[in-house]
Amino acid sequence: KNGTVLHQVKHAYATMPETVNKVLNQHSVGKKAFIQGWIKSVRKLKNHIFFNINDGSTREAIQVVAEMEAAQNIRTGASVSVLGTLSIAPNNQKELKAENVQLIGDCVITEGYPFAPRKVYPPEYVRQYLHFRPRTNRFSSLLRVRSNLLTEVTKYFNEVGFIHINTPIITSNDCEGGGEVFTAVPANKELIKQMGKPGEPTEKTYFNSEVYLTVSGQLHLEAVAHGLSKVYTMGPVFRAENSRSRLHLSEFYMLEAELAFINKISEILNVIENLLKTVTRRVLETSQDDINYLTNNKDFSWLDKPFVILTYDEAINILSSKLKMPDTDARSETEFSKEDELAVVSYCGNLPTFVINWPKQVKAFYMRECEDNPKKVSALDLLVPGVGEIVGGGLRENTYEKLQKNIPSDDKNFEWYLELRKFGGVPTGGFGLGFERYLQFLLDIENIKDAIPFPRWPHNCQL
Ligand code: 4AD
Repeated sequence: KNGTVLHQVKHAYATMPETVNKVLNQHSVGKKAFIQGWIKSVRKLKNHIFFNINDGSTREAIQVVAEMEAAQNIRTGASVSVLGTLSIAPNNQKELKAENVQLIGDCVITEGYPFAPRKVYPPEYVRQYLHFRPRTNRFSSLLRVRSNLLTEVTKYFNEVGFIHINTPIITSNDCEGGGEVFTAVPANKELIKQMGKPGEPTEKTYFNSEVYLTVSGQLHLEAVAHGLSKVYTMGPVFRAENSRSRLHLSEFYMLEAELAFINKISEILNVIENLLKTVTRRVLETSQDDINYLTNNKDFSWLDKPFVILTYDEAINILSSKLKMPDTDARSETEFSKEDELAVVSYCGNLPTFVINWPKQVKAFYMRECEDNPKKVSALDLLVPGVGEIVGGGLRENTYEKLQKNIPSDDKNFEWYLELRKFGGVPTGGFGLGFERYLQFLLDIENIKDAIPFPRWPHNCQL
């Protein structure tokens, strides 16, 4: 009764469906292949029709040649399945000689499909159609690089002895203490009413306290590092910032690592530099074709040079004395603006640049005081060209009394965090790398919304 299913059954007895990547790169000429994908372009000659099919497994499309009557309703954007034999076209390219072409889903542009054949659209236009964006050449390349990047990160951490941990999404702590949290409330009002006790605000009745979507997995990662020593996590984090900048999302992915038994910030800097260099080198190999296409053979010479290390005071000095940035004095002892970050990196030869030893008041409560200056903390930011900060981290305060002073005294939710210092405490440190910002840096992506499949930012969560 169902045409589509019948087509698949008809093909299946001959051979199983394979990816375009496998057929193009592993099949020998003369072998039968059954592929499925979307048509990228069509050329009709007198008796034959030529069309290119891509299924997302590779950047390449495979050319199919079919007899005209076998492929009557073929048009760009439609999904099809093709059974054929791999052969060599007169231009020496591999080509599938079709024996059977089946239309799976038609695509009629005049009925509202937003992309015309062979036309290139600016990212802002493509972003209006997030549900169709994975079919565009550039975005499918980005998604393959993103996937390979995560594979290489996982492989690398495994090789250097880190254990992967899942940290919770729902949490009662605001790790960064910035108040940029989304509150999680059950949607079922009836349930809230049933569970609520008289006099308690309804939002708190499900978990008996206010709970949030996590802004960082760090605090939980620290607890696990106190048993497994070297741990990492990669998960979504949520920030209720009112920022519509090209570098901010309300939901993004953070790669966080935590190490126990470390006393020097240089140990964390080494982990970050080795991670970024090794993973980048490897993904340049595994995603060579996609990266060349996306970046037009960009220069990666930073991979062969050491990262720059500056103290906060040195960076301020560069901004005020060397670069004569306006208002630098007024901004000293504060966070850097985006302009400051990019100016420091440019001054440092466009090399990734660590800024360490930050003023205590601009960093979160958990940062460890510098041994030689209690006004400074052993915090780090890593700044890169085009993006600015991509990593934040540092040593954690491991002295119980000092940490207790930094935590707001009325906040009971941090008792467990303090206890880590009380029972078998060890010095720890770690960092968080913004995964989308890393992709922006790697691939010269101007807007962070083009580095994640379904971006969320203020006023935008329809899809
Ligand atoms: O500097 P942040 O806030 O550090 C932390 O959350 C630490 N608890 C991490 C740790 O030590 N385990 O954020 C880390 C990184 C930033 O450097 C940036 O790359 C990215 O997360 N980031 C964002 N990316 C996209 N959109 C946002 N709104 C971001 N906020 C931070």
